[in-house]
Amino acid sequence: MFTLAHISDLHVDGGPRARERVGRVMAYLDAFAGTLDAVVATGDLTDHGTPEELEEARALLSGRLPVLTCPGNHDVPKEGRAPYRRVLLGGAPQPHNVEAPLNTVHRTGRGTVVLVDGTLPGEGGGRLAPETLEWLEAVLAESAGVPVVLALHHPPVPLHMPAVDGIGLANAADLAAVLERHPQVAALLCGHAHTPAATLFAGRPLLAAPATVWTAPLPWEDAERVYAAHPPMVAFHVVGDDGRVTSHFRVVPEPRPAGTPARA
Ligand SMILES: [Fe+2]
Ligand SMILES: [Fe+2]
Repeated sequence: MFTLAHISDLHVDGGPRARERVGRVMAYLDAFAGTLDAVVATGDLTDHGTPEELEEARALLSGRLPVLTCPGNHDVPKEGRAPYRRVLLGGAPQPHNVEAPLNTVHRTGRGTVVLVDGTLPGEGGGRLAPETLEWLEAVLAESAGVPVVLALHHPPVPLHMPAVDGIGLANAADLAAVLERHPQVAALLCGHAHTPAATLFAGRPLLAAPATVWTAPLPWEDAERVYAAHPPMVAFHVVGDDGRVTSHFRVVPEPRPAGTPARA
């Protein structure tokens, strides 16, 4: 069994609002170091993907827990992937081509987390490159029999959110074809939608993390009441040895003023 905290869409931009919300979320999660295996952040860590924003995101995400990231469309501007690779994956082996997709795999004794880069520099929508699909196939072939969680930014299916559904993952069928051959993939984690959501993709749970920065209203909701008023949330995914995934969602409370007792 392993347990992941799942966050997304931090949109760090140098301003106080995003900084406070990410800081609040990470302080909340930091208290669970030793219990949680990792934090997975499914992209849009920054608003514009500048080196300054990426440095701020990296600093905010640094704590006692390992944080595994994949890029979102806002993290990879038309100038390309080099700043993200340097700042967020600085310790990882550097490929010959600095513009190669930012794919990573993290293996523990209890499970594997694979994060794939479906971004298209400068574009809102996503697509998995042929080299990413080949890489994923090879990584999953090496992970047979071990529960795998696969993370990416763009949802590969519509979520009934018009603003998001038009800029999802364009080649979802290619991803589904890979998953057909790898039943050990227990769930897919994504972001981009700015709402906590659960559905199915290729027969597996597809779990969208709530956004840290702001929540997108559903078509039947009052946008004024939802957009910025919702507090940040996190998801926790417990992956059993049998591959069954159980998810919990939590609002992150505001910090208690100094001197306030834990329980009234
Ligand atoms: Fe976003
Ligand atoms: Fe996004």
